[in-house]
Amino acid sequence: MSGRETIITKDIDELSRAAAEVFTNIASASIDEAGTFSVALSGGSTPRKLYSLLASDTHRSAIDWTRVSFFFGDERHVPPDSEQSNFRMANETLLGPLEIASDRVLRWMAELSDVEACAAEYENKLRDYFQSEGRRLDLILLGLGDDGHTASLFPQTEALHELERLAVSNWVKKLDAFRLTMTFPAINDAANVIFLVSGSDKAEAVASVIEGEFRPDDFPAQLVQPVDGNLFWLLDEAAASELTRGSE
Ligand code: 6PG
Repeated sequence: MSGRETIITKDIDELSRAAAEVFTNIASASIDEAGTFSVALSGGSTPRKLYSLLASDTHRSAIDWTRVSFFFGDERHVPPDSEQSNFRMANETLLGPLEIASDRVLRWMAELSDVEACAAEYENKLRDYFQSEGRRLDLILLGLGDDGHTASLFPQTEALHELERLAVSNWVKKLDAFRLTMTFPAINDAANVIFLVSGSDKAEAVASVIEGEFRPDDFPAQLVQPVDGNLFWLLDEAAASELTRGSE
């Protein structure tokens, strides 16, 4: 059963609290059902407050973190200690404060100079996990760029059309850089997907992705369509301000 829910909150603080509740509910259900929970974290700046909240005294005891495996939906082609690294941001705000064991953190080896080797290594990590655990990812957290990209699946880039591989390198002309990203087959295989979006600068992209004409090359986030999973749009009012429909 694939559900879809849109939650609109007043601001980023309330959004982060709402996201922490959804995250915790999914994690607890997965741990109750299978004894494990796997989540692919998103990068950028929006999830920082959520990660800090999950690691805070008010929330950390809600989940048995020893049962959680962490992946990353995408990564920049930089070392893990780079200020641009999505791993570094998550480590500072969530993984470090929770003292997550390193074998539970499956990051991209983005320090490898060969981006293709990095992507192939991550593909193996994902497939090994699915095979050993006999299950798919329980949750993928995604952000949304003001250009409609998600993860590192940017408009007019090659990775949008990858139908087989789960992890690829992706040349992003506008950034003049390679990015590393899970593909839509990987994202759409997850049991739950959460878009976490805040701010008026995202309002046009949110409305285009959710209500606009289907133009996935221009708005790649439109291709996030879980095959047999739940899709949550968690928005603050500013990000939702150009939607014609409210919460669903
Ligand atoms: C990244 C993210 C990317 C991000 C969006 C939104 O590596 O930057 O994976 O997809 O989620 O660009 O970023 P902000 O949260 O910083 O607006």
